Amino acid sequence: MKIIITGGAGFIGSHVVRLFVTKYPEYQILNLDALTYAGNLENLRDIENQPNYRFVKGDIADQPFVDELFAREEPDAVIHLAAESHVDRSITDPLAFVRTNVLGTVHLLNAAKNLWKSAGYEGKTFYHVSTDEVYGSLEMGTEMFTEDTPYDPRSPYSASKASSDHFVRAWYHTYGLPVKLSNCSNNYGPNHFPEKLIPLAIHRIRTSQPVPVYGKGENVRDWLFVKDHATAIDTVFHKGKVGDTYNIGGVNEWKNLDLIHLLCDVLDEKTNQPQGTSRKLITFVTDRAGHDLRYAIDSSKIMNELGWKPSVTFEQGLAQTVDWYLQNTEWLERVTSGAYQDYYQQQYAAR
Ligand code: NAD
Ligand code: TYD
Repeated sequence: MKIIITGGAGFIGSHVVRLFVTKYPEYQILNLDALTYAGNLENLRDIENQPNYRFVKGDIADQPFVDELFAREEPDAVIHLAAESHVDRSITDPLAFVRTNVLGTVHLLNAAKNLWKSAGYEGKTFYHVSTDEVYGSLEMGTEMFTEDTPYDPRSPYSASKASSDHFVRAWYHTYGLPVKLSNCSNNYGPNHFPEKLIPLAIHRIRTSQPVPVYGKGENVRDWLFVKDHATAIDTVFHKGKVGDTYNIGGVNEWKNLDLIHLLCDVLDEKTNQPQGTSRKLITFVTDRAGHDLRYAIDSSKIMNELGWKPSVTFEQGLAQTVDWYLQNTEWLERVTSGAYQDYYQQQYAAR
């Protein structure tokens, strides 16, 4: 089986690529990524020479490129993760999100349909990876997002992802394309770009800089370890029902301020500083526009029907994450300085 994984140089994509390349040596994995600011091939340095792995640099919003790639490579499956993924960036540049998340997804759907339809779609899969943010914002309490929760996106990011989800389902209903979808909660773990809350806070605590907390820090997110998201994607890809959607979450809700307190305390302990040192860096800043109050995912469908469950507790996952950032300060420095963007040139220009 040949699988195109889009966005494989990004945070979650790199964990998915590594899992598939190492677990399924009989599969050919083609990583298609535009290497935007969020794409970092250094994330895949350990597997880049594996015989069943290849990288292709390209933009999913470039229709002729996508069509030509599918015609040339004839993939059996697509696992689609490429996206603009940061809510704050979507507020300042919404069109970039429409371009990649909506237009790019439709180009991939069309290319897959055009390649596969004549042979009848047997053994083919188009798997679209999405977010719980499409469901909108929950009040405080116990209600959780299920697969039947009506869509109510409220940021340009979540609106663009919701739109892409609708297009994926439309290609299933209209053209019979064999699609699968999953909507996951906030991920954390190694290789996370330090613009998102957890890696940003770790980086700023480590370098004794103020840690910005939006508003009063009361917003709630449901955090899942990225390697557990990768195993969930593996599970849905192989065992999920065509046409179905699976919610994926960590059953692990945290108020932002409580989470930052915990991170400060873990870092104080791991860097041998007196408890309370890092908490002094917390700085309350102006709230995000339209800031969703709470996300919480009901994962019972994927757990009960497909047998997936997270492998680590939050305490274990967070400790592994902090250790990774403390041991990979060079990665962090190359990402924050921009030096990581030279890696493609060094590794691939001559090939
Ligand atoms: P990321 O921003 O770290 O990585 C995105 C990757 O896509 C990058 O490698 C980037 O270079 C690539 N890309 C962007 N535009 C492209 C284009 N036009 N053509 C080709 N490649 C392009 O994102 P992530 O956090 O790894 O998220 C991956 C997917 O998972 C996204 O679809 C996101 O919506 C979804 N998701 C993320 C989270 C989360 O907490 N991060 C949670 C649920 C779902
Ligand atoms: P983020 O990691 O951007 O993920 P998302 O907005 O997709 O959930 O933000 C997680 C939460 O942390 C969100 O409620 C916004 C908040 N936040 C801060 O308080 N400070 C920050 O510097 C960032 C980046 C986020």
